[in-house]
Amino acid sequence: MLQVEQLRKAFEGFQAIADARLSVPKGEVVAVIGPNGAGKSTLFNLITGHLQADSGHIRFQNEEITNLAPYKICHKGMARSFQLINIFPSLTVLENVQTSVLAKHRLDQNFFRPSKKLLIEETLEVLESFGLFEYKDRSCSSLSYGDQKVLEIAIALGSKPELLLLDEPTAGMSSEETRKIVNLIKRLSQEKGLTILLTEHDMELVFDVAQKIMVLQQGKTIAQGLPEDIRNDKAVQNAYLGETGLC
Ligand SMILES: Nc1ncnc2c1ncn2[C@@H]1O[C@H](COP(=O)(O)OP(=O)(O)OP(=O)(O)O)[C@@H](O)[C@H]1O
Ligand SMILES: [Mg+2]
Repeated sequence: MLQVEQLRKAFEGFQAIADARLSVPKGEVVAVIGPNGAGKSTLFNLITGHLQADSGHIRFQNEEITNLAPYKICHKGMARSFQLINIFPSLTVLENVQTSVLAKHRLDQNFFRPSKKLLIEETLEVLESFGLFEYKDRSCSSLSYGDQKVLEIAIALGSKPELLLLDEPTAGMSSEETRKIVNLIKRLSQEKGLTILLTEHDMELVFDVAQKIMVLQQGKTIAQGLPEDIRNDKAVQNAYLGETGLC
């Protein structure tokens, strides 16, 4: 579904991404792991068009998408959540999800006009399936941190993507909130057949949900493959996993 080849990105001479490679098969949950500053968020920003690559290729469903604008990539069927929560705090829960449902139907330019009733059923369905229905009329800023993260994923899914990118979906969460997100990821993958690409520092979560893992170190892909192969990879152990206590 997604292929990244020889991707490079420098920030004022600092090579943040230096030969990143990644292949995401349709229907799988794939995790990108690596130490702080390895380039995981930068890679996601390049894939979704929020940053421009210096060189290399990104293909999504066999189509070159390198350096396309984020909204064009979104319309092709890719959606994401951010490492820091990215919602409209003053809008209600329902209005937040409605923005992405409207965008999916290319009605987003009309959003501030009489769109309130537009696609309301579809929006309510998304809220229902995320357990957010009862909060629909509350302002987003009144939700707990964990529910705001769930809402951010709901917003991303409002556009009915084929591929969902989650940048540290459980960062800063309690263990109960983390479990909720893990169950959500499994449900989206197993029941909806959604392809998911995520970054995480929580290795237990990664080895629980991922069917494939890619390891990034100083912007370079040093390994990718099945979880058991990654766990046993000497280079990966030395670079990262050794210090997590997982091997
Ligand atoms: N806009 C930018 N300008 C300059 N340097 C940047 C910029 N964005 C990221 N960097 C640098 O690029 C490197 C990779 O950052 P990135 O945020 O992608 O790492 P990460 O793997 O997501 O880290 P974390 O696990 O802490 O989220 C870091 O050294 C960071 O300081
Ligand atoms: Mg990051």
